Amino acid sequence: MSVMYLRGGAPLEGELAVHGAKNSVLPILSACLLARGPVTLTNCPRLTDVAAALNILRHLGCQVEQEGHTIVVDPAGASGSTISEEQMRSMRSSIIFLGPLLARTGEAHLTYPGGCELGPRPIDLHLSAIRAMGCEVREDRGIHCQGRPRGGDVQLSLPSVGATENAILCAVGAQGITTITNAAREPEIGDLQSFLNCLGAKVRGAGSSTITVEGGRTLSGGEYAVMGDRIVAATLLSATAAAGGRVRLSGVDWRHLATVLSVFHQAGCRVESRMEYVELGRDPETPLKCVPTIRTAPYPGFPTDAQAPVMAALAASQGCTLFVETMFDSRYRHVPELIRMGADITTEGRVALVRGVERLHGARVEASDLRGGGALAVAALGAEGTTVLSGLNHIDRGYEGLEEMLHMLGARVERREA
Ligand code: UD1
Repeated sequence: MSVMYLRGGAPLEGELAVHGAKNSVLPILSACLLARGPVTLTNCPRLTDVAAALNILRHLGCQVEQEGHTIVVDPAGASGSTISEEQMRSMRSSIIFLGPLLARTGEAHLTYPGGCELGPRPIDLHLSAIRAMGCEVREDRGIHCQGRPRGGDVQLSLPSVGATENAILCAVGAQGITTITNAAREPEIGDLQSFLNCLGAKVRGAGSSTITVEGGRTLSGGEYAVMGDRIVAATLLSATAAAGGRVRLSGVDWRHLATVLSVFHQAGCRVESRMEYVELGRDPETPLKCVPTIRTAPYPGFPTDAQAPVMAALAASQGCTLFVETMFDSRYRHVPELIRMGADITTEGRVALVRGVERLHGARVEASDLRGGGALAVAALGAEGTTVLSGLNHIDRGYEGLEEMLHMLGARVERREA
């Protein structure tokens, strides 16, 4: 087991290109099943969740090669339609293979992806989308779907990111036109649309609440660069806010970070947003200020994935900040660990009250979910003394070489075998 040692108290300085987005590359990898020829993807982050997705593709009969940040998927030989329980559990978003599998083979046999660190993760909206496209869904010790999808009206009762993506992916392979209403508007859905259209699909409306898919077109192979990871960017900006200093990030679109940037601006940081980069600075001698209530919401609201890193930065601030987590039941598991580092935070249900303290201190802490892990690294860099962070398996699901990124920005951090 490895652990991360982080010594706080040094401001962060420098420039960094943010790596590709986990939440983009995963649906794009599953979409490769819809292509007829080889697909080359660049800017793919090296993450354990990506490795899990590649294993699923191989198991289904695709040829997969990975070199550096480039992945080539040749789906020509893919004929499988079953994903084992072990593979389904290896990654929470394995359910994203459902739509492409059905579109390609007319059947899909999967198990439930299971609950996760954030609380229960239902898939009812994914299944109702599939049903709306005429497929039969039987739930009997797993999920068994049958039938060639046809275009239809998919009405989502809430804007689920994964269900929107599954519906798009299934609809691309369906005969006829599909309209998805109350679709999620996250930027990664726009990236999926751009990728599919680059292969010859006709998907319109990503970024709005209504998405239209003209299905049944043959998709060629092609080449595509995955967008940068706005949550990794939000984490690095949170770390800069916590430690002080000045950091410039490229490879992400600042507009995708607008709500997070606005919080840091209100907290007293200097924020500069350009098409080419986003920069955040804080004088280490000037403490962060508290901000009005931070309420997570579907895009373009404040991202639930940025809640923990931003909370970690504001744990040392002047005044009180209230957080309301509206997306997931159990997304404050980083709070007890922040308290071990000297934070003053009370939670009740989906609400957390952060009473800013002057400074956190280093401690032994454990990540119990991906973004909560990122948050503990953020807190450690602003804290006095050394923090020993374990549970790195969670962090490696979504941050490629977190310690290397932080090290490049001047942080005193290293990973060691415990
Ligand atoms: C995606 C992101 C994740 C992010 C989340 C919310 C990926 C790989 N992951 O997850 O990082 O935290 O969006 O921005 O892109 N729900 C249902 N029934 C369903 C599906 C979802 O009730 O069938 C509920 C969920 O319990 C949750 C809410 O809808 O409360 C939003 O979940 P969803 O948007 O589906 O998140 P994911 O796609 O799983």
